[in-house]
Amino acid sequence: MGNVILEVRDLKTKYVTRFHEDVFAVDGVSFKIEEGKSLGVAGESGCGKSTLALSLMGYYFPPLHYISGDIIIDGKNISGLDPDAVRKTVLGKEIAYIPQAAMNALNPTQKIIRFVEDVIRAHEPKADKKEIRSRAEARFAELGLPREVLDKHAVELSGGMKQRTVIAVSTILSPKVLIADEPSSALDVTSQKMVIKMMRELMEKGYIKSMLFITHELPLLYDVTDDIMVMYAGQIVEKGTAKEMVFDPIHPYSHGLMGSILVPEEGTRGTTLTAIPGTPPNLKKPPQGCRFAERCRYAKDECRYHAIVERPFGEGRSYRCLIGVDQLREVYEHE
Ligand SMILES: Nc1ncnc2c1ncn2[C@@H]1O[C@H](COP(=O)(O)OP(=O)(O)O)[C@@H](O)[C@H]1O
Ligand SMILES: [Mg+2]
Repeated sequence: MGNVILEVRDLKTKYVTRFHEDVFAVDGVSFKIEEGKSLGVAGESGCGKSTLALSLMGYYFPPLHYISGDIIIDGKNISGLDPDAVRKTVLGKEIAYIPQAAMNALNPTQKIIRFVEDVIRAHEPKADKKEIRSRAEARFAELGLPREVLDKHAVELSGGMKQRTVIAVSTILSPKVLIADEPSSALDVTSQKMVIKMMRELMEKGYIKSMLFITHELPLLYDVTDDIMVMYAGQIVEKGTAKEMVFDPIHPYSHGLMGSILVPEEGTRGTTLTAIPGTPPNLKKPPQGCRFAERCRYAKDECRYHAIVERPFGEGRSYRCLIGVDQLREVYEHE
C-alpha cells in the first residue's frame, strides 16, 4: 500500500435546524486515499456529498456540527480543530476545496491576482506582490492558462475559464488534497473536458497529492478517478476501483445506478442518478436497518431491522448490505 494522504475514520456530522432538529447528513463515513490517487464520490442529490466535503475541510459553522470521527491528512489529525484554526493552517495549504458552484462565488469586481494574493497571504503573510505574481504566472503557464487572466475580473471570463482559474488559484500552494464538489457539472462538454484535463495535470505534475472528486455524473467518475465510493443517505454503501464499481457493482443501490449507465462514449454527457424509483429516507430519522431497504428489490424483512455495517470483501472493497456477495452476484446474473 502506498503512502496514505487522506484517511477518514467513522466521520459523523449533522445539521441542526432552526427547530433544533438534527439532520444526520454524514453518518459514519470511512475511507483512505493514497498518494497519487483520486477517489470519486457518487450518489444522488441529497445523499450528503457536499456535506462530506464541508466536513472534511472543517467547515463547522452553524448549522453544520461535528459529532465524531477522525480526519487525518498525511499523518496529522485535523478533526476537532476549530474552524478558524482550520482556515489558518489547513485550507489552501493542506486541503484545497472547490465548493459546488465555486466559479459563481468569485467576487466579480476583484481582479484574479487579488484572489491569488489572498490564498498565498493566508499562509505567508509576508509574501510580496511581485513574488506572488511571478509564482502565479509560472503556475498558470504550467497549467496552460494565459497570464492575462490574472489582471481580469471574474465577470470577464467564460464559465470554463473561470472554473479552471478557481482550481489553479485554489491549488497554488500545492496542497496535499484537492476536494472538488461537482467541479464540471455546470459546464458545456468542451469546458468540462478542459477542467478534467487540468485536474489530471495538477496530479501528474505533483501540485496536488490526492483528489476527492464529487459528482452525480457516474460516467465522469469512471473516466477520471482510480476508485469510486457510492454514498446513500449519509453513508458509504460500496467502495472499489472505478472498474470494479462500474463492471461488478455489488450493493443493490450501486447495481441500480450502474445499470442505468452505459460506459460513456467520447463526448457524451453523463446520465444522472435518477433511474431508481423512490426517494431516499429522511435524514432526521434514518431507518434503523438498511437505509436503502425501502427502495431495494431484494430486501428481506430482516434488512429493515438490522443495523448494517460495512463488510469488506476482495481486495480493498467493501459494501453495506445484509445479503452476501455471492448471492447478490448470482441474482444479478440471472436477471
Ligand atoms: N443547511 C442545512 N440545514 C439543514 N439540512 C441541510 C442543510 N444543507 C443540507 N442539508 C441536508 O443534508 C442532506 C445532505 O445534503 P447535501 O450534502 O447537500 O447532499 P448532496 O451534495 O449529496 O446533494 C440533505 O438531506 C439536505 O437536505
Ligand atoms: Mg452537493
